[in-house]
This record gives sequence, C-alpha cells and structure tokens, in this order.
Amino acid sequence: MMHVLDHISLEFLEGEMVCLLGPSGCGKSTLLRIIAGFDTPASGEVTIDGEKVRGPSPHHIFVFQHSGLLPWMTVWQNVELGVRNVGDVRARGEIIQENIDMVDLTGFEQHYPYQLSGGMQRRAELARALAANPDVLIMDEPFNGLDFLSHMKIREEIVNMHELLRKTTLVVTHDIDDALLMGDRVVVMSGRPAQVTLNRQLDFPHPRDPKKNTVLGDARDELFLMLGVSYAI
Ligand SMILES: Nc1ncnc2c1ncn2[C@@H]1O[C@H](COP(=O)(O)OP(=O)(O)OP(=O)(O)O)[C@@H](O)[C@H]1O
Ligand SMILES: [Mg+2]
Repeated sequence: MMHVLDHISLEFLEGEMVCLLGPSGCGKSTLLRIIAGFDTPASGEVTIDGEKVRGPSPHHIFVFQHSGLLPWMTVWQNVELGVRNVGDVRARGEIIQENIDMVDLTGFEQHYPYQLSGGMQRRAELARALAANPDVLIMDEPFNGLDFLSHMKIREEIVNMHELLRKTTLVVTHDIDDALLMGDRVVVMSGRPAQVTLNRQLDFPHPRDPKKNTVLGDARDELFLMLGVSYAI
C-alpha cells in the first residue's frame, strides 16, 4: 500500500477560503476526497463542527468538479440538480435563477452545455455548486482547461462571490498566483508522503497585486522556492 498522506492536521475556519498547493502526485486530490467523505483514511478522521464525516453528503460538502455538467440537460436543469432537496417548486426556481444570475448566465437557462463556451460551462458548474448551498465548498483545480482570460475572470468572480457569501471554501490549485490572489490562507504540502510544510495567513485586501504589494511579492517568491522554482517571473 502506498503511503500518501502523513500526519496531516488542518483546521478550517468558517467562512475562510483556503488554497492548497503542492507538487503533482503529492496527495491533494486524495486529501480532498477524504475531507469530502469519498475515501476513508487508513487512520485519522474528519470532523465538521465536531461531527465526524462518515460519507459523502453534498449538502455539507460539495465538490466542484469541472466537466461535471450533464450534457443532455440544460443549464437550468443542471443547476436544479444542486437543489433537489428544496421541495417547494417556487422556492427552488428562485434559488436556481438567483444563482444563474449571479454567475452571469442570465438568458442562457435553456442552453445545453455544448452551446456554451468553456468559461460559461465553468460558470454553470459554479452556479450548481452555489445553489446546493453546502457548508463547505471544495474546488479541485477549478481553472483546469480554461484559456488565460477566462481563468483570470472566473478567478476574480470566485473571489467576489466569496467576499459576498463567505462560504467556507477549499481550493486546490497548481498555480501559486491563484493561491496568493484568492486565499485567506495558503497551505503547502510536500511531496509524497505529504506533510504540511507551510500554513500561512494572507491578510491582504482584494484585489491583490503581488507586483505592487512587496509583502505579497515576497510571499510569492517564497512559495515558488518552496515548490522548487528558484527564479519565477
Ligand atoms: N486511482 C488511483 N489508483 C492508485 N493510485 C492512485 C490513484 N489515485 C492517486 N493515486 C496515488 O496517490 C498519489 C496521490 O494522488 P493525488 O491524485 O491525490 O495527487 P495530487 O496531489 O492531486 O496530484 P495532481 O496535482 O497531479 O492532481 C499519487 O502519487 C498516486 O500514485
Ligand atoms: Mg489532483
């Protein structure tokens, strides 16, 4: 059996956005799967408000997955999947519309995923995750496969949404700038068997610019060094 995670102990505060960085294959997705209850750790446990997570529960923890839209369903129907637990049809409709509006997809309710650009699809996925209104939102590399501009735009939107809703959010990313520009805190994991090598608060107001803020710039250099890159542009 492969030893992937080693003595990982992390605490997430309500409302904060934590970004998790680490080399490829170190166990970030594994850790997310354990937190979300999809996998059981060989030892240790995950608790939310003192209660042990015993299995997947989308209303407690929702994992934002890209390419998760069902191609035979419209944007509206896909978002509706997140709110199946709301019995009242009118209330459900309001939640769906509210979240579609929030991600700027008003007017695309009856479109199918193939009729949307990659960035719009990602927005629809985000609307579904937000509509589910989970206690914790988990995002595993949410910008994967997006072009540069869509990446920047959706990143900004996620930051704005987080400022507005203050939902406890855990984001795994390969991108140091994503972590620096988004996180209230950044956690770095080492190579396998992964341990936490840095757990740092990032108390900087948004929007952030590491080129203008020297403390943030220094933190950026340090993160690159920790991840094995000595000269980062
Ligand atoms: N389905 C699987 N079967 C066997 N081993 C796996 C499987 N998934 C992951 N692993 C092993 O567990 C380790 C951790 O994988 P994990 O996907 O958690 O890494 P990661 O940090 O998310 O990597 P990446 O940044 O590339 O997404 C890997 O090194 C791999 O060897
Ligand atoms: Mg991964």
